[in-house]
Amino acid sequence: MTEHVTVEHEAGILTLTLARPDKKNALSNAMYGVLADEMEKAENDSAVRVIIFQGDGDSFTSGNDLGDFTAQATGGFSGERHVGRFLKALANATRPLIAAVHGQAVGVGTTMLLHCDLVFVAPNARLTVPFVNLALVPEAASSWLLPARIGHARAYAMFALGEAVDGPTALAWGLANGLVPLEDLRARARAAAEQLAKRPLGALTVTKRLMRDAEKIAALMDTEGALFAERLRTAEAREAFMAFAERRPADFSKIA
Ligand code: COA
Repeated sequence: MTEHVTVEHEAGILTLTLARPDKKNALSNAMYGVLADEMEKAENDSAVRVIIFQGDGDSFTSGNDLGDFTAQATGGFSGERHVGRFLKALANATRPLIAAVHGQAVGVGTTMLLHCDLVFVAPNARLTVPFVNLALVPEAASSWLLPARIGHARAYAMFALGEAVDGPTALAWGLANGLVPLEDLRARARAAAEQLAKRPLGALTVTKRLMRDAEKIAALMDTEGALFAERLRTAEAREAFMAFAERRPADFSKIA
């Protein structure tokens, strides 16, 4: 275990388990760093043929650590930020990516699923992208990928109203391949990974490349990232993060 991510590599399958259950696996900068490092290494390691993402505890992930957002919003964050590297690794991944999702999948916890090739959800999965509630904007190319997958109306309600999508709905809307009882979730993801690990890597790689426009995705991530960074420094965002820390509803009414 490094920095709240457990890394296991066995029989061609790299399993990256978010392991910060007391914070619902909120993603710290260090955790993004580990995920990015592992995904970058995997690209150059022919022994890694498939990657699985999963979360310990009762949730997949509650998204970006809001304490880190607050630090960025108030200029209290220094050093290298790894989230961009993680997102680019998702955009450019040639290996099949599989996610096993239960409980909360907030923000990047949902947008990263749009880069996964197979997604299995438990009935209690709760997919949310409440960027506007946090006075932020969509990231990880989700401003394009989410409406492309589920249609503008549903995507807008998720982004702007923060509406949650549960496991059965995620399956019905094409966000997931399978709805799996919680107790079987990891085994289902593992079984799919074992199947993919036996497939010819070259054919898998070219198939994935044909199916997605990685260059367009990476370019959009840059555009979104610049706007996201700008939004983080707004009075709206400071109010949203303060409200979360103080466990009260945000009040944007006095902010012009
Ligand atoms: N960043 C930092 N800490 C987080 C977190 C996050 N994104 N999400 C949850 N936590 C922490 C809580 O502060 C709490 O810590 P504490 O026990 O020290 O007080 C702990 O994790 C448990 O969370 P809690 O809010 O008590 O659980 P819940 O079941 O009532 O609610 C969520 C779960 C995920 C709905 C709620 O925590 C939440 O909305 N989190 C913020 C999600 C978010 O906006 N992420 C950013 C998206 S861009």
